[in-house]
Amino acid sequence: HIEFLGVDLGGTNIKIGVVDTEGNLLDKVKYPTAPLQESGDFITNFIEILGSELSKRPHISKVGIGVPGTLTKCRRTTLEFPNIKGLGGQPLMDKLEDAFPEKEIWLENDANAAALGELYFSRSPRPDHFIFVTLGTGVGGAVIMDREIFKGGDGNALEIGHVMVSNGMTLEQNFGKKGMVAYAQKLIDSGKYETGLISEDLYPKAIVKALPKGDVVAKKVFRKNAKYLGEALVGAVRLLDIKDIFIGGGVAASFPYFEAELMAYLREHLTEYYTISLSVRRAELGNNAGILGAASLCFQQGEKN
Ligand code: BGC
Ligand code: NA
Repeated sequence: HIEFLGVDLGGTNIKIGVVDTEGNLLDKVKYPTAPLQESGDFITNFIEILGSELSKRPHISKVGIGVPGTLTKCRRTTLEFPNIKGLGGQPLMDKLEDAFPEKEIWLENDANAAALGELYFSRSPRPDHFIFVTLGTGVGGAVIMDREIFKGGDGNALEIGHVMVSNGMTLEQNFGKKGMVAYAQKLIDSGKYETGLISEDLYPKAIVKALPKGDVVAKKVFRKNAKYLGEALVGAVRLLDIKDIFIGGGVAASFPYFEAELMAYLREHLTEYYTISLSVRRAELGNNAGILGAASLCFQQGEKN
């Protein structure tokens, strides 16, 4: 049977997995991103770890890579990467093809890849059009339109993380890793709340883990951000006329804890035409959506650049 390599190149971790044609994750490894940025050239370091993983699995000939930033429409050159130093403005596909001439490689924005994975690999049927938001180090967006990634004019539609919300900052500045940690820190520093969160160990996953314990600081962080996400989504729903929304990414486990606030905001700010069939769900592929989505890129039809 055929296997693909799916690579989720994130701002915090690089996750590499072996995926079969049914979307089963057979094997997975994780490398922290920071050391690859700290010494030498990031892309050279990345190619080195990718090479070592590929050499362990010579039977794999197709590799899909989801990257956390914008790309040229032909998906060969990287453009802007707010959360990774050394990855933007590079002929990444040329470099990968030079390093791995015998492999077929696919590059795509990470949120777009995760959305495609949700379409191809979910156990439940998925609609032909949907909006997808990834919550992680950055905040990413995608649209699946007629069962394909909607690229937009020059290739990078749905950069929802950089949409301005009502506090004058972008959605990502609020709901991305830095924004969440900064707001939680501010609440801790105010001394007004009893919380299990501590400054020394404050990162998005710790805030998410505090939610089931009813931690008041964690709840406040997600309530506030649910409203900002709602603001951005009201615009997206109106502009695209798509009523199915999926929430994925490393922080998506928090979704049940802010779903009510988000739905209330959307119901209040959209008309009945939209709300009657509006559906916001957590993406099914969970934490492995990035890897599975990247692998699903190898399924795309049409000409390979
Ligand atoms: C980038 C997006 C990316 C998202 C999630 C944002 O900062 O602009 O391209 O999809 O982070 O990684
Ligand atoms: Na995107």
